[in-house]
Amino acid sequence: MNVLLIGKGGREHALAWRLKQSARAEKVFCAPGNAGTARDGITNVPIDHYETDKLQRFCTKEKIGLVVIGPEDPLAAGLADFLRNKGFKVFGPSKDAARIEGSKVFAKELMRHADVPTSEFNVFDHPQPARDYISTRDYPVVVKADGLAAGKGVVVCKTAEDAVRAVERIMTREEFGEKAGKQIVVEKRLEGEEVSVLALVSGRTFLPLPACQDHKAVGDGDTGPNTGGMGVYCPAPVATPELMKEWERTVFFPTIHAMKRGYHNERFPFQGTLFAGLMLTNQGTRVLEFNCRFGDPETQALMMRLKTDLLDLLEAVADERLQDFEGKVEWDPRPAVCVVLCSGGYPGKYATGKIVTGLSDADAVPDVKVFHAGTKLDAQNRVLTDGGRVLGVTALGATLAAAKARAYEAVKRINFPGMHYRTDIADKALKAKPPAPPVEAPKLPAKFRKPGQRAGDGGEKPAG
Ligand code: GLY
Repeated sequence: MNVLLIGKGGREHALAWRLKQSARAEKVFCAPGNAGTARDGITNVPIDHYETDKLQRFCTKEKIGLVVIGPEDPLAAGLADFLRNKGFKVFGPSKDAARIEGSKVFAKELMRHADVPTSEFNVFDHPQPARDYISTRDYPVVVKADGLAAGKGVVVCKTAEDAVRAVERIMTREEFGEKAGKQIVVEKRLEGEEVSVLALVSGRTFLPLPACQDHKAVGDGDTGPNTGGMGVYCPAPVATPELMKEWERTVFFPTIHAMKRGYHNERFPFQGTLFAGLMLTNQGTRVLEFNCRFGDPETQALMMRLKTDLLDLLEAVADERLQDFEGKVEWDPRPAVCVVLCSGGYPGKYATGKIVTGLSDADAVPDVKVFHAGTKLDAQNRVLTDGGRVLGVTALGATLAAAKARAYEAVKRINFPGMHYRTDIADKALKAKPPAPPVEAPKLPAKFRKPGQRAGDGGEKPAG
């Protein structure tokens, strides 16, 4: 089967890399892709997600059997509906269902309707009532622009003055766009540890994937401004099997069923990846947000661990027969750590076009894969930086500590002018608990082995 993946980030490189390993995948295309997808034998197609007619013509010409849509923007714009209506099989939610990420107001009202635990909130469509509400709160708040704002529309406020300024920025100055700031959500700010839980969803069936922990702040020790994610580890020990069961019951089940049943005379069943951003507070778990797609960089760690054929799995979602995989999805038992290398200045202004060196050396570290996020090839086939988040260096290890050590060993081999990364990815878990015992590397099928690596050879001694 020929597959088309839409997107160009680290998440898409990781998905395309796994799809390419599928026994059933013939040609894998990525539109538009990046230098990493090109170097992995995936065919990059210079079409942007909003060029819908071109995408349709491409799918027809290449007899695409499955389209996988990576980012939230094309999903929120209705690309899945468009291609489905043209007769193509698509992995990803409809425009109506993608509102779970595309509209913060929709998501909060859905949670209220479905009785999903989330922080108390109010919705405003004018600045003055929002300011009045803020002045009567005796707790810090978060102000959220309703619409998509490239991950920047959520302002976590320390004081009421900060919150009033956020209202001004979002609604009056329309800093995040006119549409995104038409309505806002003001909600109680929560304290606790964050965890990302993603589930494949199809019809009434959902299949949670192992929990991950992301690192949003740009600097070590969670300092500095928030980014799209500076690194991740998987599994997150804080997500115990008991908590995972609880979240199935209290978060995923009611949300997915409410979307399928619908309300206000509307139905918006979800098909694709539902990402729950959870916070573990002293009062129990609360949903901070939902995303309508795979996480980035969560996907890099998840794809490193997934052993089941990804094409089979994603096609089963699109065909509404995900139940075939219940209890059957296989994971590498070893933890994965992904360290994001970003351009100096990110998430603010940064330069692009810097030459990246050391990629082959880094990829040669056993059980390491360097996923590209913001890169492109120049005329001489050199890899250049082309975004804020540039690479996601991802490693497996017998323990979380070993995975971390291996990821950073590979990071040391890479360089580009202005390169910045956090040095403490996974420390939260490593410092929190006695380390989990080492797990043996599974027997590796030939297609997953690096040259010189034997079946069952994780490439290192367990670090204990
Ligand atoms: N890592 C957070 C996200 O994908 O939204």
